[in-house]
Amino acid sequence: MSTHDKILRVGMVGYAFMGAAHSQAWRTVNRVFDLPARVRMALVCGRDEPKVAEAADRLGWDGYTTDWRRLVESDEIDVVDICTPGDSHGEIALAALAAGKHVLCEKPLANTVAEAREMTAAAARARESGVRAMCGFNYRRVPAVALMRQLVADGRLGEIRHVRAVYLQDWIVDPQFPLVWRLQKDRAGSGALGDIGAHIIDLTQYVTGQLVTGVSALTETFVRRRPLVAGSSGLAARADGNGSATGQVTVDDAAVFVARLDGGGLATYEATRFATGRKNALRVEINGSRGSVVFDLERLNELEFLDATRPAAEQGFSRILVTEADHPYLSAWWPPGHIIGYEHSFTHQMRDFVEAVATGTDPAPSFADALQVQLVLDAVTRSAERAAWTEVEPALAKV
Ligand SMILES: NC(=O)c1ccc[n+]([C@@H]2O[C@H](COP(=O)([O-])OP(=O)(O)OC[C@H]3O[C@@H](n4cnc5c(N)ncnc54)[C@H](O)[C@@H]3O)[C@@H](O)[C@H]2O)c1
Repeated sequence: MSTHDKILRVGMVGYAFMGAAHSQAWRTVNRVFDLPARVRMALVCGRDEPKVAEAADRLGWDGYTTDWRRLVESDEIDVVDICTPGDSHGEIALAALAAGKHVLCEKPLANTVAEAREMTAAAARARESGVRAMCGFNYRRVPAVALMRQLVADGRLGEIRHVRAVYLQDWIVDPQFPLVWRLQKDRAGSGALGDIGAHIIDLTQYVTGQLVTGVSALTETFVRRRPLVAGSSGLAARADGNGSATGQVTVDDAAVFVARLDGGGLATYEATRFATGRKNALRVEINGSRGSVVFDLERLNELEFLDATRPAAEQGFSRILVTEADHPYLSAWWPPGHIIGYEHSFTHQMRDFVEAVATGTDPAPSFADALQVQLVLDAVTRSAERAAWTEVEPALAKV
């Protein structure tokens, strides 16, 4: 590690799944990348004192607190990293920006468009005094995804005609799986749509450089009541046939939609938690006038590319092993062919964020980019309710 002048003291709220992934990335980022600032993992926040104390020790944080307001207002913190469910993103981010802290907020940015607009406006105001805000769409930082974007930007695919994106999981196929926060609209905003659909909306808009302008959607909730879990108080409970308490699932289990892109292409999206056997299957295929490209998260070190400008007799999908030093992010890691994994996307996310904050530049995806995703989520929900083609609301209308 080289000597750095700037220290960025990070405070992270939430220490479970994303908290662990972010901690791993904060621990690693300065050891892999040469950056203009050094991260100090100052404070982690959770509501249960013994648990957050244990998490601080295990994940490598210097201290802990049980009150996120203390963390946000602390003079010892420069960056607030939000790893909580969507119902608290807005409140924490607004308080952090008002206190002059840089903010990294997990996706989806908020639970509603109104909240996302408020957060985007607050980030724009804070930016005037040098405060930076970014949303955590980490899949942008998979090197093969960044390469896919480069190929599109370099014109290697020509005009984009088709985008085909799926994100498939199966963790709630069992109707006895309990009513966790991800199945409650007031906590999560939406179901598969906002949780994993948001990723493929961001990823495809990022890779193609084109925005979704309108959608026609179907959503479904296959299992409408589920067993309550400890701590899910405030939910309307009732006893099922076996005498155990159940509660209403208030989000979608699956969302499928077709869309138009502002560059003239057609896109299809599928996000589901009911794809039996599919654990975390994110796949995107793009077909253009000069070529096609395919990304599959289960083979994240690879990109399939077809160059349709080659003689027909020589054409075919080629497998690019995305591990060369001149591929995005990879010069800092291992020799060619020595592959990387899921967690590296978070280290790359922290790399880009730290560099932007330390150099006073704007990180991406910005809150405005994340608002754009939120507008698409909202259009999908409205389209499914109305069973009708629905335009995506313009981002600038009310900000
Ligand atoms: N980028 C990705 O790939 C990815 C993957 C999973 C989740 N996420 C997003 O990350 C966020 C968190 O999801 P998760 O899977 O880590 O959830 P989780 O349930 O594993 O963890 C949530 C954490 O937030 C804490 N928390 C909740 N309310 C709090 C409050 N008021 N004050 C302090 N702590 C609070 C919980 O105690 C827990 O530690 C969500 O927005 C989710 O959509 C992103």
